[in-house]
Amino acid sequence: MNLSNLRKIAVVGAGTMGAGIAQACAAAGFQVAMRDIEQQLVDGGFRRIREPLAKRVERGKMSQAEVDAILSRVRGVVALKEAVDGAQLVIEAVFEKMEIKKELYAELERLCPSDVVFASM
Ligand SMILES: NC(=O)c1ccc[n+]([C@@H]2O[C@H](COP(=O)([O-])OP(=O)(O)OC[C@H]3O[C@@H](n4cnc5c(N)ncnc54)[C@H](O)[C@@H]3O)[C@@H](O)[C@H]2O)c1
Repeated sequence: MNLSNLRKIAVVGAGTMGAGIAQACAAAGFQVAMRDIEQQLVDGGFRRIREPLAKRVERGKMSQAEVDAILSRVRGVVALKEAVDGAQLVIEAVFEKMEIKKELYAELERLCPSDVVFASM
């Protein structure tokens, strides 16, 4: 993958790893779609991103404007198709269950063009 073409990253799973990865990718300047299977799980992912960033602002390590810029680059979604649409990289961070991962990869293969890179946690 040519990194200069990397604009949008889809992070699948908004748990501990997914939220952290989404935050890191957004902090690095990429557009991120963070997907989980229900809206409340997506909301939980945003809480996992917001809380440590708010602490950094409290400690004077980051400005609120920087936090707002990071958050503005993360879009929460439930529909997998929407999450991967236009993404050059998909980072999978779902439960460590082989059946779930297999099903997800089958769906990702149907939805993504062949040049999309998949990364697995
Ligand atoms: N937590 C760690 O320290 C750690 C370290 C290294 C690797 N990992 C690996 O990372 C992966 C995620 O771990 P975690 O700790 O973030 O788990 P977690 O339980 O915090 O989060 C997993 C999330 O995946 C979601 N999910 C399940 N099926 C999904 C699907 N089809 N599409 C989208 N979301 C789906 C769940 O709703 C949940 O929110 C696992 O494979 C784990 O083994 C975790």
